[in-house]
Amino acid sequence: MTAGSESLGETAVALNQTQTAQSTKGTPLKVALLGFGTVGSAVARILSDEPARLPVRLTHVYNRNVERKRVEWTNPGVVWTSNVDEVLGGDADIIVELVGGIDPAHDWVRRALISGKSVVTANKKLIAAHGPELSRLAHAHGATLAFGASVAGGVPVIDALQEGLAGDKLYRVSGILNGTCNFILTKLEGEGLDFATALQQAQEAGFAEADPTDDVDGYDARAKLVILTRIGLHAVVQPEQVLCGSIRQLDAVDFIYAHELGCTIRQISRAERTNHHVLASVRPALVPMDSPTAHITGSLNLVLSSGKYGGQTAFSGHGAGGHSTAVAVVSDLLDVARGRAHAAVRPLVEAEALPVSANFADKFYIRFTVRDRPGIVAAIATALAAHGINIDALLQKPGFGKDALPFVVTLEECTAEQLEAAMSDIRKLDFLVDEPLTMPILSREL
Ligand SMILES: NC(=O)c1ccc[n+]([C@@H]2O[C@H](COP(=O)([O-])OP(=O)(O)OC[C@H]3O[C@@H](n4cnc5c(N)ncnc54)[C@H](OP(=O)(O)O)[C@@H]3O)[C@@H](O)[C@H]2O)c1
Repeated sequence: MTAGSESLGETAVALNQTQTAQSTKGTPLKVALLGFGTVGSAVARILSDEPARLPVRLTHVYNRNVERKRVEWTNPGVVWTSNVDEVLGGDADIIVELVGGIDPAHDWVRRALISGKSVVTANKKLIAAHGPELSRLAHAHGATLAFGASVAGGVPVIDALQEGLAGDKLYRVSGILNGTCNFILTKLEGEGLDFATALQQAQEAGFAEADPTDDVDGYDARAKLVILTRIGLHAVVQPEQVLCGSIRQLDAVDFIYAHELGCTIRQISRAERTNHHVLASVRPALVPMDSPTAHITGSLNLVLSSGKYGGQTAFSGHGAGGHSTAVAVVSDLLDVARGRAHAAVRPLVEAEALPVSANFADKFYIRFTVRDRPGIVAAIATALAAHGINIDALLQKPGFGKDALPFVVTLEECTAEQLEAAMSDIRKLDFLVDEPLTMPILSREL
């Protein structure tokens, strides 16, 4: 354990036993929902449809202006309220936080845990930023915190990493953690759209928010990667430590060149741990057409874990959507009711703080857009060679104007830091029309 870690409190175990005893004796645990949006209403639907099967009962629904949200199909006796104090100070055993974001969710979850109520949440932002603190609070107050829905929606990857693969020593987690980016990339690839049009179509289809920043710039996937790194690799990584590369710069022409290289493009999240450091990044990357990641389309998510003893394991399924995410939330509720979820907080608390960088060694793709003139390739090759980087191939499709000519250089393996040093020299060259796009070219197993 690290200095900041704590042992499981006796009270936590005692309370879990009390809750378990309550539910197994036939008295369902009382559940209060904070937030009745996409996921909250889907959770309420499962709890209302399956009262006989589940050892929990919906007792409260909180939302601002709750009258707009009221539905007729919940079980009788549910209290609908816009007063959060009524819920946090009430008799619910478990608070399900489905409001999202950091504020005020952080404060509400803290208050719930301090009063000894267990919390189930799907809030990746909150867990990535405050998970360890909230876990310790849960221990200290005899409550539990479960967050299985916070990564990959309905894919039970948190449970799988911390329970099913606990016997292995995992050194890498990677995959596709954001369905919105996948949708946009599929549009760029399949229909040859530019980024702005593909984004607009994603927004119209309900796959992207009005403000798409969190998705397209990688912050949503980063929060999930931070959680997976703590759970799977037992390493503490703060969201701000993880490099995020946007997909905004991508264009249909990048797919033309990627296909030429036997690849497609995906937003890849990956983290690798050694004894001394953690490598982590979220960025668009070329992946071979025959790799598992290349086959993930639409809102599907994929998580790959690599272990010293067990090798690679893949988890795939719907990473978003009210119903699939609600399944993960209700599964966490069952874990709490069975007294199993107290184990879930261990990895968050016990993870080790190590230096973090994005200095992976990869082959790379660089797409330049230049004003054509003699000597361009020689100037780029010289700048790369000055930093010990070899060019692997040069690709140039015909049919583009000389005033904005795209072409691609692929590189033999080098580190991200080597490449960045060379790129800072290349950016000073006078023929560039815009910022060159760099992407790693990943191997099949990533
Ligand atoms: N949707 C998914 O596919 C998915 C997948 C995995 C995880 N999650 C996570 O699940 C959580 C909920 O997501 P969601 O998609 O259900 O969001 P949502 O549809 O926007 O629902 C959030 C609900 O909370 C209410 N709310 C928000 N801020 C509030 C505040 N300050 N006070 C009172 N009520 C407030 C909203 O009320 P208004 O209607 O008034 O805005 C809305 O009813 C988030 O943490 C999200 O990251 C979602």
